[in-house]
Amino acid sequence: MKTTDAVVLDEPKIHEPTADAVVEPAIEARATPSAVGVKDAKIYIDGKFYSEADAKISVFDHGLLYGDGIFEGIRFYNGRVFRLGEHLDRLWDSARSICLEMPMTKEEMTEALLEAIRQNHLRDGYVRLLVTRGIGNLGLNPMQCKWPSVIIIVAAITLYRENLYRKGLTIVTCATRRCSPGALNPAVKSLNYLNNVMARLEANLADADEALMLNDAGNVAECTADNVFVVKRGQIVTPPVTAGALRGITRSVAFEIATELGFKTLKADITRHDIYTADECFLTGTAAEIIPVVKADGRLIGNGKPGPITARIITRFREMTRETGTPIFAEH
Ligand SMILES: Cc1ncc(COP(=O)(O)O)c(C=O)c1O
Repeated sequence: MKTTDAVVLDEPKIHEPTADAVVEPAIEARATPSAVGVKDAKIYIDGKFYSEADAKISVFDHGLLYGDGIFEGIRFYNGRVFRLGEHLDRLWDSARSICLEMPMTKEEMTEALLEAIRQNHLRDGYVRLLVTRGIGNLGLNPMQCKWPSVIIIVAAITLYRENLYRKGLTIVTCATRRCSPGALNPAVKSLNYLNNVMARLEANLADADEALMLNDAGNVAECTADNVFVVKRGQIVTPPVTAGALRGITRSVAFEIATELGFKTLKADITRHDIYTADECFLTGTAAEIIPVVKADGRLIGNGKPGPITARIITRFREMTRETGTPIFAEH
């Protein structure tokens, strides 16, 4: 697939994010003046760039009709895309799992994504990369859809306000169970997020920052868009993918950091009891980054303040995000 010719900017002209760029949760940024918090945003669809107003897809795309498609949320910091290779590997795994033939190579996808960021003149932000099944008829059979569509949206966002990183989040367990792998495997990052949306609604109704989702066995799976970690006596534990947790990229970075800092790490089933009795708890996700949890179902976690181990992991994570990644602009 052809992408537009790369424009390598020697001196990137950086847009200040608009006032709407930081909202809570910001990936649901208000629709005006810009849904993505970028002035004159450019959105990539199948090799061309469009303004926000002109970025449209068919009502017959099965991504819309059936949530049939896949996506990634990716961050870039300080002019570098963080863990791009891992995001593309997971996207390709999702595609393979749902028998979606990717319309471009990983190299072409990398170039399209970097060019989309350049076109939006940002050095820090978030990318939503979608591949829809494409245009079909009203029947759900994907065989009708001959051409998957690639959409790349670049946004200037942060998920939570900075004071929440200092104070920590409140979470509630929701009644909505995480999809069982036998029904719809949570390891596929698909466009069908209604399971998570239902859980998010419960968090909103309970006036909480996030919803904790259990699996059918009653063990902790994850939150609506984040992986969950507990710290107990210096050991750092997160549920395994078999519990219904996404193989989160920030989750694996948190594990790398924890190991580097000399902590014991473990992927094991945990229950709500383990969260209530943890010394510390935190969430990881590309959009949310690494953020402490201080209250679950009305119970204070530890002393009700973000814990010291979480703080060390966040500090190292911030260093890594600023110092590593795929360069977006020509480097001198
Ligand atoms: C359901 C779910 N769990 C966990 C995560 C965190 O994964 P990552 O760290 O790769 O963003 C996400 C976000 O992508 C998600 O949507």
